[in-house]
Amino acid sequence: TKFWAVVPAAGVGKRMNADRPKQYLLLAGKTVLEQTLLRLLQADVFSAISVAISEEDPYWPEIPISCHEKIITAAGGKERADSVLSGLKSIRDKASDDDWVLVHDAARPCLTASDIHHLINALIDDEVGGILALSSHDTLKNVQGNSILGTLDRSHIWRALTPQMFRYGRLKKALEAAEGNPAVTDEASALELLGLQPKIVEGRPDNIKITRPEDLALAQFYLEQQ
Ligand code: C5P
Repeated sequence: TKFWAVVPAAGVGKRMNADRPKQYLLLAGKTVLEQTLLRLLQADVFSAISVAISEEDPYWPEIPISCHEKIITAAGGKERADSVLSGLKSIRDKASDDDWVLVHDAARPCLTASDIHHLINALIDDEVGGILALSSHDTLKNVQGNSILGTLDRSHIWRALTPQMFRYGRLKKALEAAEGNPAVTDEASALELLGLQPKIVEGRPDNIKITRPEDLALAQFYLEQQ
């Protein structure tokens, strides 16, 4: 079996309040997206990395890594799940149903190559696959409006990170079945809707998703520490 990576990178990143999508902001001398792709290339396991790019994206052709022999481009979609599905379709002639696909957010540039191997080693013999995740240190509330309806049992709550690792055929089927469902905000949720139970593999707390302006400074700090 082969390993493929799919990187949804077609979001606009509204919460950053920046003049360009967050994946093109500078982080330690390169764009966030380049940092992310360099980490995936460093792992040295992927047959190819498919990056889903918005059709109106003027920045992608400008970055040197867009010409890398292992990197191919897919058209981004309306929602994250549409972009991932498009990435999967871009490798349909090369991938077989049993191959593993690791889906990783463009906006998570602090992923380490060793975390990629950790995830793969943990799941390679698993029937379904799974995701990197972190336990929650905060107490979590179920809220409607501004009223607390209850408190979740924190011992059962994990935060989903990426990469998320599933078999090509099953992931494609799950995302196709879930098309247009707003509850599907990651790959695991699409498999859950098919009645499957993906595994969690404990990830690293520095694998943050760049969302707000201050996250860039934090990511820079983490990259320097690693
Ligand atoms: O917006 P959010 O941070 O949840 O996005 C997660 C990832 O999904 C980002 O890397 C973003 O570029 C990507 N995305 C996408 N297509 C969309 C929306 C988000 O590829 N339509």
